[in-house]
Amino acid sequence: MSIAGKVALVTGASRGIGAATAKLLAKHGASVIVNYNQNQKAADEVVKAIADDGGKAIAIQADGRNKGQVDAMVKKAAEEFGPVDILILNAGMSVPFKSFAELSYDEFEGKVMGELQCFFYPLKAVLPSMMERKSGCIVGISSGLSRYAAYGFSAHTTVKSGVDGLMKSLALELGPIGIRVNTVAPGLTVTDATSWLPPERFAAAAEATPLKRVGLPEDVAGAVLMMVSDEAGFVTGAYLPVSGGTQMI
Ligand SMILES: NC(=O)c1ccc[n+]([C@@H]2O[C@H](COP(=O)([O-])OP(=O)(O)OC[C@H]3O[C@@H](n4cnc5c(N)ncnc54)[C@H](OP(=O)(O)O)[C@@H]3O)[C@@H](O)[C@H]2O)c1
Repeated sequence: MSIAGKVALVTGASRGIGAATAKLLAKHGASVIVNYNQNQKAADEVVKAIADDGGKAIAIQADGRNKGQVDAMVKKAAEEFGPVDILILNAGMSVPFKSFAELSYDEFEGKVMGELQCFFYPLKAVLPSMMERKSGCIVGISSGLSRYAAYGFSAHTTVKSGVDGLMKSLALELGPIGIRVNTVAPGLTVTDATSWLPPERFAAAAEATPLKRVGLPEDVAGAVLMMVSDEAGFVTGAYLPVSGGTQMI
């Protein structure tokens, strides 16, 4: 895949889907910024794994909800590697698993606004340079639950529907200047975020999936790589489910 020499920023790349994505983009020759919020040790391990594999990466702390920290991260990234060519908006808040009747406004706001801020601020920090250079590639990590409802996930479905809308709007506005924007929508994927689910839930999900298993972070990373490569140069505004066929559009 033709991403060698590009600079990629992956938000929330210390663990899970973001970590797998950072490693795969680096394996294919991108210089990667491994963004994290709290877990420096995990981010350093991702950077070490990339370096051991012959790749280039640095870990930079920034809470995606904090404009000042995000701006400082993008500035530092430019000093280290140059301007960002590929932006993967992956950082997500943990889901308060509750029916809407039990959900407080603070829980709803924390998930919905927190995750939208983690999209908004990195986009605002990276886009001026992409627009000036008339080139760039953005992937937003949504969820299969942006288009389907699941009991107890109303806040998650709300924000991920918003993510889909934002990505489509950007694809429309930025396409004419050569910036591609796509959405990758994982189904149930084995990460820290889903570790609280009982094994029966994973077994049932696998059984209901045409490919007869649930997702791994590497499955999502592969789809992201495909979307940001030049081989997908005529793909923008797309919504790609990565769910083993659970979700067919
Ligand atoms: N797992 C699934 O089944 C699934 C399904 C559909 C969609 N998704 C989506 O995929 C994305 C990644 O999920 P995951 O399962 O890989 O999650 P995860 O394993 O819990 O990892 C979350 C990552 O986000 C980072 N993060 C959290 N809050 C942040 C903030 N305020 N600023 C910057 N980084 C922050 C964490 O950093 P620290 O390590 O520093 O805390 C960590 O690297 C999310 O958008 C999620 O909604 C996941």
